[in-house]
Amino acid sequence: MKNKTVIELGSGVGLCGLVAGALGAKEVFLTDLPRGVPLLHYNLHMNGLSDAVHAQQLCWGSESDVQSVLASLSEKQLSELELAALGNGTISEVGASSFPDVVLCCDLLFNDEANIDRLLWTCKRLLAQNTTVLVAYEIRDNALNDLHFFDEMQDICDVFAVDAADYFDAETMAYYTREGMVDKLEKLI
Ligand SMILES: C[S@@+](CC[C@H](N)C(=O)[O-])C[C@H]1O[C@@H](n2cnc3c(N)ncnc32)[C@H](O)[C@@H]1O
Repeated sequence: MKNKTVIELGSGVGLCGLVAGALGAKEVFLTDLPRGVPLLHYNLHMNGLSDAVHAQQLCWGSESDVQSVLASLSEKQLSELELAALGNGTISEVGASSFPDVVLCCDLLFNDEANIDRLLWTCKRLLAQNTTVLVAYEIRDNALNDLHFFDEMQDICDVFAVDAADYFDAETMAYYTREGMVDKLEKLI
């Protein structure tokens, strides 16, 4: 995560994005429905991460929300000089546009077809050449509907599966991160 720009979708309490910030991400945008944003602001302040972590509404499927988050990301990427030159202009007027290095999706697929399509649209809209989408997914009752998400993503990017069970140690009841999952994920980013 070090020095990466990150957008988390459906952040909930924001744990994944906050961990990305604590691991040294350059800029992290926690996003959720409007009603979730105050809690995200509270949590990023309570964790002392307000320099690098930000919270903003992003309803999946909303072009204006996506544009607004990408504009905020672009603004954070501009130097103070570039910002001063901007004056009263807008980010799009100076032609700045940034896409995230990483999109985080943790536990967002839960058998709601319309919502999965909105999520798919949003992931695709946030993808640039070098963007990695990290999806944490638990197979539940109606996995077949959820798998549509991975099928569609496969059409536009390489999809790799990492089985968390391979990294679980039953004796210590812990997931091994240093030599295990995190290392493997880092290779994908
Ligand atoms: C099961 S929670 C997962 C929260 C968090 N990622 C986690 O793993 O703890 C799903 C989250 O997605 C958000 N969500 C659901 N539908 C959404 C939509 N259409 N647009 C934006 N966020 C949405 C919910 O508000 C909720 O915070």
